[in-house]
Parts: sequence; structure tokens; C-alpha cells
Amino acid sequence: MNLLLIFALSAALADGDAAKGKVLFQTCAGCHNTASDDRKMGPSLRTLFGKVTLRNGKHVDDANVREIVVEGYNGMPSFGYSFRPAEMDDLMAYLHTLTGKPAQAASGKGESYFRAYCVRCHNPDSKSAAGPDLRGGFKPEWAALIDEGHGGAPPLKEWLDDAARQALLDYLKTYR
Ligand code: HEC
Ligand code: HEC
Repeated sequence: MNLLLIFALSAALADGDAAKGKVLFQTCAGCHNTASDDRKMGPSLRTLFGKVTLRNGKHVDDANVREIVVEGYNGMPSFGYSFRPAEMDDLMAYLHTLTGKPAQAASGKGESYFRAYCVRCHNPDSKSAAGPDLRGGFKPEWAALIDEGHGGAPPLKEWLDDAARQALLDYLKTYR
């Protein structure tokens, strides 16, 4: 652990100002959405403190999020030298406000589309289903396959508009 990190961690309990942190977040906003779940260069942080684990497998808490910001992570540069300790606290206070729940409303809708259009061929409980069990297997390539039609299913664009298509894909990402 480097000195800066220890310094940052020891400041973890200090109170920050979320409004100031929101301004500082402009440094991050080029790579991170907070209003939608769309990925920029980095993942959306809309649900950051609504989640249980970070992508690096660690628990979502103040210290582990600070560590990512201070040290950088998987293509994200280090911001250890960008903020004074008080600014780090402000930034963290703002990040703590990002507690959206992972696409609940959309996934409810996505599930109903899945039942309407997919389950007759992708029913994991039916031995006679024509298509494979899709639980837990989401890959980004699926979007194109579903769009273009496959395995006896017509192209998705013939069934669903963009918002509905997105809701279905969001549902498939969490389908287990
Ligand atoms: C140049 C683009 C870029 C900038 C600027 C950037 N990040 Fe990142 N960030 C990334 C990438 C890339 C990842 C890791 C992506 C992955 O592993 O999927 C990431 C990951 C993260 C994560 C982990 C998310 C998770 O769910 O595990 C957090 C938290 C984070 N960034 C916060 C910030 C904050 C706060 C700032 C501003 C101080 C910032 N980032 C600035 C690109 C960036
Ligand atoms: C008429 C039956 C049918 C319907 C309806 C159908 N599928 Fe399929 N699906 C298949 C078959 C058969 C396969 C395997 C052969 C193939 O990929 O062409 C498949 C494969 C897939 C795969 C690839 C799985 C993998 O592991 O590679 C995905 C993803 C998929 N379907 C998603 C969907 C979604 C989402 C819907 C609803 C919008 C849907 N399918 C509707 C029959 C269907």
C-alpha cells in the first residue's frame, strides 16, 4: 500500500460535501455515465453504491472505491495526484449518492418481453424447447444475433422498438 493510499484511507471517515464532489466528478464524467446505464469508456456509475461488489470483486465500500480512484483500475488512469484530501472526501460524498438500483423497472418490462417473445423456444424447464437455456450466459454478441433473427425466430426489430429492445437486453444480462 503506498503512502498516498494510506492517507486517503485515513481520511475515509471525514465528511465530504457532495455538491462540491459533483463538480469534481466532471473529471470522471467523460468516461462514466451517472444518468443512464450506458457504458462510455468506463462503466456507468449510476448504481455504484447500490451494488454489492465492484468489478474487481471487492465489496462496494468507501475504502475500496477510493482505492480504484487513487490507484486506477483496468484501463482507468490513477487520480491519486488529481485531488487534495478534502477534495477526495467531497468526490466520495458525491459517489455515495449514486445508489440507483440495477435496472429494476426496465428488467420487469424486459422479463415480460422475454415471456412474450422468447420463452416458447427458450424455456429451461421444457425438454422440447427448440433453443438453448439462456440463463447466466449473456454475451454482447447476442444483441446482433437477436436483431437479425435466428433459429426460426424473426428479427427482433420486427417485434420491439428501441426502448423495448434495450429492456429485453438488460433483462437478459441479469437472467440467471
Ligand atoms: C479515461 C477514462 C476514465 C476516467 C477519466 C475515469 N474512469 Fe473510472 N473507470 C474507467 C475504466 C475503463 C474502468 C474499468 C472498466 C472495466 O473494468 O470494465 C473504470 C472503473 C471505475 C470504477 C469501478 C466500477 C465498478 O463497478 O467496479 C469506479 C468506481 C470508477 N471507475 C470511478 C471513477 C471516478 C470517481 C473517476 C474520476 C475521478 C473516474 N472513474 C475516471 C475509465 C475511466
Ligand atoms: C422459434 C424459436 C425461437 C424463438 C422464438 C427465439 N429463439 Fe433464440 N434460439 C433458437 C434456436 C433454435 C437457437 C439455437 C440455434 C441458433 O443459434 O440459431 C437459439 C439461440 C439463441 C441465442 C444464442 C445462445 C448461445 O448461447 O449462443 C440467443 C442469445 C437467443 N436465441 C435469444 C433469443 C431471444 C432473446 C429471443 C426472444 C426475443 C429468442 N431467442 C427467440 C430459437 C428461438
